[in-house]
Amino acid sequence: MSWNQDLFKRTLDFAAKAHGTQQVPGSGFPYVVHLVKVATEVLRVADGTFDLDFAMQCALLHDSVEDAGVAVVTLRQAFGDRVAEGVSALTKDDALPKAERMADSLRRVRGQPKEVWLVKLADRITNLEPAPAHWSAEKRAGYRVEAQAIADALGESNAALAARIREKIASYT
Ligand code: NI
Repeated sequence: MSWNQDLFKRTLDFAAKAHGTQQVPGSGFPYVVHLVKVATEVLRVADGTFDLDFAMQCALLHDSVEDAGVAVVTLRQAFGDRVAEGVSALTKDDALPKAERMADSLRRVRGQPKEVWLVKLADRITNLEPAPAHWSAEKRAGYRVEAQAIADALGESNAALAARIREKIASYT
């Protein structure tokens, strides 16, 4: 299993710095906790069939453009084209109407290497924790439908993550 710990550390430091004092909504945890949870969902299914270093980079950086305002060109300079393009695909296009953003992102993720698919699945698995108390039943239902769309679009990339997202959807409240 390929594992470059120095690359992981450099990427984690970059992501932690980019997200700064941002917190995981509703939890009070530093944002980097979310990033590490996503990375370890992917790490858990590492089986030698994908590039683990690349997957870890995409996991740690997946929200750096959408939620921390890092420019894609900055990612390109720091981590190269492949990572910049993967993170771009994982970033919703806020020029589109809100209702179209997830489908558009999923289309772009499907045009990327498998590692990017795994990160999207891992992100939603991580986020399928009990919804914040202030969320309406309608909002929860919408989140669940969206999770199912992610599972349907990307599940074929990894059987273990597909099973895990289905399990999380079934128990989501
Ligand atoms: Ni995320």
